[in-house]
Amino acid sequence: MKIQTTNIDKGGGGKSTHTFNAGDWLSRVKNKRVLLIDGARECNLTHAFDITSRKTIYDIFTTGEYEICHITDNLSLIRGDERLTDEQLDLASRNNKYLQLFMWFSEHYEELDKQFDIILIDTHNDKSLVTANFIAVSDIVLGVTDASTNGFRAWLALKQFVEAIKREAIEVITKKSYVTAEAYIIGNKMEYYGNNVTDTCKQFLDVIQEDEAYLGSVQKKELMAKSLVINQSVFEQRENMTEKQKLDHQKFYGNIEYVYNNILTVLEGGAA
Ligand SMILES: Nc1ncnc2c1ncn2[C@@H]1O[C@H](COP(=O)(O)OP(=O)(O)OP(=O)(O)O)[C@@H](O)[C@H]1O
Ligand SMILES: [Mg+2]
Repeated sequence: MKIQTTNIDKGGGGKSTHTFNAGDWLSRVKNKRVLLIDGARECNLTHAFDITSRKTIYDIFTTGEYEICHITDNLSLIRGDERLTDEQLDLASRNNKYLQLFMWFSEHYEELDKQFDIILIDTHNDKSLVTANFIAVSDIVLGVTDASTNGFRAWLALKQFVEAIKREAIEVITKKSYVTAEAYIIGNKMEYYGNNVTDTCKQFLDVIQEDEAYLGSVQKKELMAKSLVINQSVFEQRENMTEKQKLDHQKFYGNIEYVYNNILTVLEGGAA
């Protein structure tokens, strides 16, 4: 079982959209058994599904009890909760405040590992202890940003955040960190005129492409914007397209699957 947290301390870059679409791609196209966890208090990912449960991610942080909502054969969700904040959970005053979720996962690892190949966690755009707890259990942290200077700065800050969590969560005797997450980045909402990207996107790509943690970029596309409005991933939308429409969008699909395959490779422990 591999765990990915999607996070960056900048709003609106596409974290929830990509968690939703990648979750559907992994389960529908790659036949992986996927568990989504909505770790963002605005609960955008949860709202994409017509499901309800008594327990949410908040209960995992408080009583440890959990409820998994079954969406399709291969896709499940642990619902988000607006109470998922450091203050509500009083995380700052707890012992091992970075490792609360880590301890829960250790306790439940076997039963989760039997059911799931991949866990995708969506987060709020912040550097809270809640978010740090998600990063602490992850194999990879995926930053998602649009082509902006602020987005690039947020990516640099994300790398530092992950390193800081590693330093905080060490085993006292061996001094080894419990946290092994590696940070990666994708660009999102790239804009084209004809076959070329706009100047802003080009400037962003010129810099980000130098980073070995860069896994590719996804273009700005109405199919993506629509996915969390009609609650259908771009891959589900593709299934309802005519051959002509599929052909029209072929380049977009080829590219997003290339990017998602790159993410899957590093998530499964391969080289980028
Ligand atoms: N590739 C894309 N093409 C077009 N629109 C996109 C794309 N990716 C995301 N969007 C749109 O951008 C907006 C922000 O996306 P999203 O909510 O996924 O970002 P987020 O990082 O989760 O934001 P927040 O920080 O608020 O949680 C949404 O309206 C979404 O539909
Ligand atoms: Mg979001």
